[in-house]
Amino acid sequence: MNEELISRLTEDLKASRLTVVLTGAGVSVESGIPPFRGKGGLWERFDPMEVAHIDAFMRNPARVWDLLLREMHHLLNRVRPGTSHQGLARLEEAGYLSTVITQNVDGLHQAAGNTDVIEFHGSFARQLCLDCGKQIPTTLVSLETLPPRCSCGGILRPDCVFFGEMIPPQALERSFQLAEACNLMLVVGTSAVVQPVASLPGVAKSTGAKVVEINQEPTPLSARVADYSLFGEAGKILGQVAAGLPPRGRRH
Ligand code: OAD
Repeated sequence: MNEELISRLTEDLKASRLTVVLTGAGVSVESGIPPFRGKGGLWERFDPMEVAHIDAFMRNPARVWDLLLREMHHLLNRVRPGTSHQGLARLEEAGYLSTVITQNVDGLHQAAGNTDVIEFHGSFARQLCLDCGKQIPTTLVSLETLPPRCSCGGILRPDCVFFGEMIPPQALERSFQLAEACNLMLVVGTSAVVQPVASLPGVAKSTGAKVVEINQEPTPLSARVADYSLFGEAGKILGQVAAGLPPRGRRH
């Protein structure tokens, strides 16, 4: 059944003048990064309100670093792009994809070669000093004592969006503008339950764009928003889609 839908998506990509993709944790699963929800997800092991809420971090930064952030630091230091990231980079390279809006903080879309990536939930690649505001590359941060500290003595936090925090205003504004302007929004590997990002596909749809979902399983978008859904491994599906598209040069 996917063969037919893959051809349909290939045709929709050819016809679209402005295509954006919205990605979630599912695109990084093949890189060895666990998702948040579902089997093996991070929120099976942790209560997000205890490790990913800004109030929990401010109450006890050492604990949040110890429980969650230390592990992320080790993991994200060694991960590489997987087939989903590569497929999306090929779509951009061939001229069919303008922008990636991602909820992921792992930097893997940029590592794969996508050049316009909106990090809706920020990035783990940088740490911020709570006192002086200095940004420090995560690779330079030592975790010998927790929480890690800036040279000024201030506590470091990742430049990611914790629950209870605002989305970076530029990322928010550009994402909604693109949702309104695009002809096609691909939604890949996200459970589409966290707001406000989960409303982007609905915005795209309401302003006339096609919305196509790629996911291992149905999501709230499948029945209500998506024009159609391709169910299966994102890497495989994106690889097949990219293989069916000849380069058309950069039109976006
Ligand atoms: P989730 O873990 O909620 O959802 C991952 C989605 O990817 C699920 O719908 C899976 O079915 C799908 N999936 C997993 N492996 C896949 C594969 N190989 N191919 C295709 N689909 C696959 O992750 P997100 O939707 O990204 O926010 O989560 C959204 C936000 O919730 C995160 O950015 C984070 C989290 O709490 C903050 O921390 C603010």
